[in-house]
Amino acid sequence: MSRISIIVGSTRPVRIGRQLADAVAAKIAPEVDAEIRILDLAEIGLPLLDEPLMAMMHQYQNAHTHAWAKEIAASDAVIFLTPQYNAGYPAALKNAIDYLHGEWKDRPSAILSYGGHGGHGGTASARQLREVLEFIGLDLIDSGSLTIAQTDYTPEWSLADADAVIARHGDEVLRIGAELMEKIDAEDAAAA
Ligand SMILES: Cc1cc2nc3c(=O)[nH]c(=O)nc-3n(C[C@H](O)[C@H](O)[C@H](O)COP(=O)(O)O)c2cc1C
Repeated sequence: MSRISIIVGSTRPVRIGRQLADAVAAKIAPEVDAEIRILDLAEIGLPLLDEPLMAMMHQYQNAHTHAWAKEIAASDAVIFLTPQYNAGYPAALKNAIDYLHGEWKDRPSAILSYGGHGGHGGTASARQLREVLEFIGLDLIDSGSLTIAQTDYTPEWSLADADAVIARHGDEVLRIGAELMEKIDAEDAAAA
């Protein structure tokens, strides 16, 4: 079965990224013929890039790099779920990207950004991330953005109802799932 992976780009101990990823997975799963896998950078726990050689040389020396490379290589498509931090995307996400090179190339991918302030849905973060992913050569579809309202948060800064946030953006989330699935199917057909 094909696999679509959702990379959770935020790693803070109090965060909404994982709740959003779970809700996106639940929304997309019934609509696509693929397993949805969550790659949570907080759980994966990559150290700050500690490979001696550049990823493009593909001579990984650390077990954590091999494990991360295996996850991406096994992903037929990837959704980068990223918050906006100070008009950019999180350092943990850049670190995870920089670990690899060939595994990213031509991989069907989408950016799904989110942010609270000003109702822009983290679009500045998505812009920055797109520039990096285009440079590396991923096969990117149009980005999606999730607007988080102040009233979506509990007093403890988690989401009161992540499914409701995703339902508000249902068309966009389903569009991403469908377009990635189309790309997977096209690649499968070309390889057959
Ligand atoms: C360091 C930091 C910087 C932030 N900068 C922005 C910003 O530029 N624009 C915005 O809309 N929200 C900003 N926020 C609010 C986040 O989008 C919001 O806290 C969101 O819940 C972060 O995602 P996370 O909870 O998954 O980490 C910032 C949050 C943090 C922690």
